[in-house]
Amino acid sequence: MADLLVRRAGAVFGHSTTGPTAIVIRNGRVAAVLPDRDVPSGPLIPELDAGGRVVLPGFVDSHAHLVFAGDRRAEFAARLAGQPYEAGGIMQTVEATRAASLDDLVAGVVERATACLLDGTTTVEAKSGYALDVEGERRSLEALHLAGARVPVDIVPTFLGAHLAPYDGYVDEVVHDMLPACAPLARFCDAFCDEGALSVDDARRVLRAGCSYGLLPRLHAEELAHSGGARLAAELRCASADHLVHADDADIAALAAAGVVAVLLPATSHCVGIGYAPARRFLDAGAVVALATDCNPGTSYTTSMPFVIGLACIEYGLTVDEAIRAATWGGAQSLRLDDIGQLHVGARGDLVVLDTDDWVDLAYRPGSHLVADVVKDGVHVVCEGRLR
Ligand code: NIG
Ligand code: FE
Repeated sequence: MADLLVRRAGAVFGHSTTGPTAIVIRNGRVAAVLPDRDVPSGPLIPELDAGGRVVLPGFVDSHAHLVFAGDRRAEFAARLAGQPYEAGGIMQTVEATRAASLDDLVAGVVERATACLLDGTTTVEAKSGYALDVEGERRSLEALHLAGARVPVDIVPTFLGAHLAPYDGYVDEVVHDMLPACAPLARFCDAFCDEGALSVDDARRVLRAGCSYGLLPRLHAEELAHSGGARLAAELRCASADHLVHADDADIAALAAAGVVAVLLPATSHCVGIGYAPARRFLDAGAVVALATDCNPGTSYTTSMPFVIGLACIEYGLTVDEAIRAATWGGAQSLRLDDIGQLHVGARGDLVVLDTDDWVDLAYRPGSHLVADVVKDGVHVVCEGRLR
């Protein structure tokens, strides 16, 4: 467990210290955030000189589909030519994922998790859901675990065997066969409740069964149509309801009252052209909002949280501070993790140094590569934009 002294930060997100600031990390956890001149002298520990640049908590990407094989370029091109998106496209990725070896799946996750890290993500939730059979869903979760041991990013595994219901009796199979085989490898259970995917009743069955295996529920809801997923997420007190493009005021009130985090995915809206979730209304209702990439080959092939933050500011009308908070603390809340997403004393030493003296640049300079350094559990893992 590492020690690190970050010196001369121009500012630290979530802290009001003015002037050069230091962050002391001991045993992988934040021990102090204090004016640089007040750093007590003691035994030498490794240092990272931020040189006046700003420091943020590591990004928490709370919705990603990192295990898959193949691509959907042809489907994307067809959409550009006017074809609408349909959930059924998932089956193409299912075919490719079933045909891939475990080694190939692991290599794909390692590649994507490394891309996450280089863009400042230190924790990423990752879902199975592109195999849709017992062996394949289990293998997908195994791939996440194997990849997690090879990249310094925390991968939080979610079972999404209910990504579609491709034939009659499929939900029975999820409940009776897949869940017992997969639950030991996952922390959350998710379902895609939408037009062309699962009905509210089927999603309820899957999430309840997931709970009986000790998994916490989260739910894809109200992405393609207003189909009742948000109210189901509130009823089950899910950790999160995700997408929410079509959520109405009653949904928003129910989710806020039930403590369900609204995980919003502006890159999906951007790539599919399905309209943007009512982010401001969620915040006004007192809901916790998280921002995530939804990285997947069908609707949002990006691992970049800076891109998502930029979109959230422009398209949702969030302030940059609101967007950063949603991309860090909000994500942590949706994963029910209290020791990440904020650089308070006792939190894990996961942080990002941006190559600028003002984090407003995340939205102001879209597409610029601003992540210079990344620290994971007190270890300096990305230096000047490169893996160490
Ligand atoms: O979150 N909405 C469900 N799943 C993915 C898309 C899946 C796909 O098209 O491959 C999503 O957008
Ligand atoms: Fe998704």
